[in-house]
Amino acid sequence: MTIAQEIYPVNNTRILLKQRPFGMIKPEDFEIVEETMPALAAGKARVRVVYLSLDPAMRGWVSADENSYVPPVPLGSTMRGLAVGVIEESNAEGLKRGDWVSGFLGWTKLIDVEPKDVNVVPQVVPMEAYMGILGLAGATAYYGLMEVGEPKAGQTLCVTGAAGSVGSLVGQLAKANGLRVIGIAGSEEKCKWLTEELGFDAALNYKTDDLEAGLRAFAPEGLDLHFENVGGAPLQAALHNMKAHGKLIICGLISNYNATEMPSGPELSAIIKKRLTMQGFVMTDHLDRFGEFFQKLGGYMSKGQLKYRLDIVDGLESAPTAINRLFVGSNTGKLTIRVSEL
Ligand SMILES: NC(=O)c1ccc[n+]([C@@H]2O[C@H](COP(=O)([O-])OP(=O)(O)OC[C@H]3O[C@@H](n4cnc5c(N)ncnc54)[C@H](OP(=O)(O)O)[C@@H]3O)[C@@H](O)[C@H]2O)c1
Repeated sequence: MTIAQEIYPVNNTRILLKQRPFGMIKPEDFEIVEETMPALAAGKARVRVVYLSLDPAMRGWVSADENSYVPPVPLGSTMRGLAVGVIEESNAEGLKRGDWVSGFLGWTKLIDVEPKDVNVVPQVVPMEAYMGILGLAGATAYYGLMEVGEPKAGQTLCVTGAAGSVGSLVGQLAKANGLRVIGIAGSEEKCKWLTEELGFDAALNYKTDDLEAGLRAFAPEGLDLHFENVGGAPLQAALHNMKAHGKLIICGLISNYNATEMPSGPELSAIIKKRLTMQGFVMTDHLDRFGEFFQKLGGYMSKGQLKYRLDIVDGLESAPTAINRLFVGSNTGKLTIRVSEL
């Protein structure tokens, strides 16, 4: 302990995860602990947290899901959280008193870190900018739209969660890149903010507007890009209004995060957790390449690597009943009608 600490013990408050929430997060899922900080160890710096980011992803971090992109927050440990703060005291090379640092500092007032745990951030913008445009939201909007979406001027984009921290930046970045933008948000006031202040071309309120009709009216030829933050009905409406060869960017599915039962449709969160790509195709788009494909397949056949069987039904008149064998699974091989003898 340093002399200063002997005289003035340094108190800290931390919030620990006590139990895994069921449904919405409740205060009793956490425990607040008061503690005295130990003397600062060699190689460490003490950070006073100034801004702590609260993110939808936290709902996933406190669940027991071992199959996600980060392990669950262990019970009894400080809740995980991105934050920015100021160095109060340092015994660490590269970190000095007064530096601003960001990183996963957690739900705590003070934390002792090693230099590898944090990034020193320039003091050229107000510190709160590191929570927004220069924080997770800005990076997510930029990467998701510009690198995953690959937008082109003149395209039409829809974004859900549009008045949120990620969504509002996605729409504005798209406008800055020459796209037409429609946002979907949850109140009239939010929709007004999008169109009157942020420059969105249009906005829909998913609580009161007909999303299918609204999207069709805005983009009669379909959406080129859709940036999804929500899931559920808005995603369904966007899917119905996509242009052929359009692209969906699945960033978040917040409408499912507190679900206590699996949604009835496919559970899409694995697309995000495992960074999956999902792409549709229609084979008849590629009729001109059939010859090329048959040549490749012939190569496998000649090596005995492909087996095949037909399920042949005789008589054209059998077709109307035989077709249903496909839907009950009673075909064993490619269902084929022998219309006549060769
Ligand atoms: N993939 C990544 O790396 C990554 C990184 C950061 C964030 N995200 C995702 O991005 C999305 C937005 O995050 P954010 O931090 O910017 O939060 P945010 O949009 O600032 O806040 C969440 C908003 O979601 C909307 N919402 C909540 N429940 C909803 C529901 N059941 N149906 C429809 N809308 C609902 C609410 O706005 P309304 O009033 O409009 O309903 C709420 O204000 C989240 O899905 C998050 O998980 C992903």
